[in-house]
Amino acid sequence: MRIDIITVLPELLTSPFEASILKRAIEKGLVEIHLHNLRDYATNNYKQVDDYQFGGGAGMVMMVEPIDKCISGLKAERDYDEVIYMTPDGKTLNQSMANELSLKGNLIILCGHYKGVDQRVRDMLVTREISIGDYVLSGGELAAAIVCDAVIRLLPGVLNDETSALTDTFQDNLLAPPVYTRPAEYKGLEVPKILLSGNLPKIEKWREEQALERTRKRRPDLLE
Ligand code: ADE
Repeated sequence: MRIDIITVLPELLTSPFEASILKRAIEKGLVEIHLHNLRDYATNNYKQVDDYQFGGGAGMVMMVEPIDKCISGLKAERDYDEVIYMTPDGKTLNQSMANELSLKGNLIILCGHYKGVDQRVRDMLVTREISIGDYVLSGGELAAAIVCDAVIRLLPGVLNDETSALTDTFQDNLLAPPVYTRPAEYKGLEVPKILLSGNLPKIEKWREEQALERTRKRRPDLLE
């Protein structure tokens, strides 16, 4: 997989890819991340990428020309499966969307800023709009990093057995069951006896029940 991220703040998107699982995925050659500073595609001498909105109103709008220039240049080099725009009015990211995106080859992610992008970018260039939740961030960069993390960890070979995505919360629309590690007793709080029993079928059954109970209590909407 290859992900090209278009941003006015590339510095916000370096550290997420420099540690742990995402770093290893890049080192193993399972994903390539390419950051593009939108200012490098500005079409006037002032390196301008935003402008006042027609009709008046507070806040700047990201201009269509630099974005079109950047995306067209990328598309001239290779095919892309999606051009994703990060915006709070997009479709909310969930596990099934992450699963779907993990099956794609090349993605472009455009990070919004200020009042967002000129509507013609969305009409002409964008194929999918994603929000990470019902709150407004100061830009799409952190949201883009979250999409990348959720997607990249699902690529074959990224996770090992220990960190397998198969038992994640949201797999099968269930929250994950409680987990424990040593010591077996801490300040009078004991680990459920069943987990120390060595009886694997019973442990599996207990985990399923706990997952269901936790989901019923905390996120009944997932079971609807
Ligand atoms: N940009 C600003 N807020 C956002 C959000 N909630 N999701 C995606 N992109 C955003």
